[in-house]
Amino acid sequence: MRKVASITGLFDPFTKENLFECLELVKSQNLDRLFILVEGEAEVSIIHRIKIAKLMSQAYRKLKVVTKVKDKYIPSFKSKVADNMEEAWQNLNTATKRYVVANYLYLEQLAHINLREKRYKHVLSVAELSRELAKCHGVNENKAYMAGLLHDCAKELDVNLLESYMDNVYPEFKGVNQNLWHQYVGSTYLSRFFKISDREVLRAVKYHATGEDHSKLGMILFCADKLDPSRGYDSAKTISLCKSNLVLGFEKTKQEQKEFLRKEGLL
Ligand SMILES: [Fe+2]
Ligand SMILES: [Fe+2]
Repeated sequence: MRKVASITGLFDPFTKENLFECLELVKSQNLDRLFILVEGEAEVSIIHRIKIAKLMSQAYRKLKVVTKVKDKYIPSFKSKVADNMEEAWQNLNTATKRYVVANYLYLEQLAHINLREKRYKHVLSVAELSRELAKCHGVNENKAYMAGLLHDCAKELDVNLLESYMDNVYPEFKGVNQNLWHQYVGSTYLSRFFKISDREVLRAVKYHATGEDHSKLGMILFCADKLDPSRGYDSAKTISLCKSNLVLGFEKTKQEQKEFLRKEGLL
């Protein structure tokens, strides 16, 4: 007779650790089939969590992700692996990572991976403002929110790592002010580490500090970053100009940035 069992959990998300847990169970219980049952409420919908569990386990024929276990009398196990996306990212396969970012899932946790608390607050605030501006100007709000959350993902990387990215990927920009390196490296990091392939987002991040991307998304990210209310100065007037007229708001923000840099002796 076939020996079957089930394992249940929130699987938020299902990682390689969960996979090993399942395979271990198959082995220790000598199972022919293990049903994986995703259950419970989480911020990420059950539909996405099921899809992720499938992407992670599809190569193993003894594992099957199900939405219901028909036979109530088969042995049932509870997953013991703690759900923690921030740590889990490295434990997802590439197809799953692509699925996660293409569906704008777990973005806040991903944004937290490389940032200290203060900068994390800044990117959250930039993301909110980017989303508001996107709404005003018919831009995809999810894209704007994602770009806002991840625009500074390379800001706190080790300077040697930043330098090696500049040497290898952007030798033509190596001579610019070091404070700007993170925008170029950030864009590459988004595609290599976070598996983001959205060209509009990558380009907006690549020029978020210099304001050279004049697409709507590029202007939105530049303005939201510079006008972020959590920076501690009153930017309300320019924010409202950006909401009513993005191009004028963008020009004003650039002008204000120039004046600021001149005052600080950086220009
Ligand atoms: Fe930045
Ligand atoms: Fe920033």
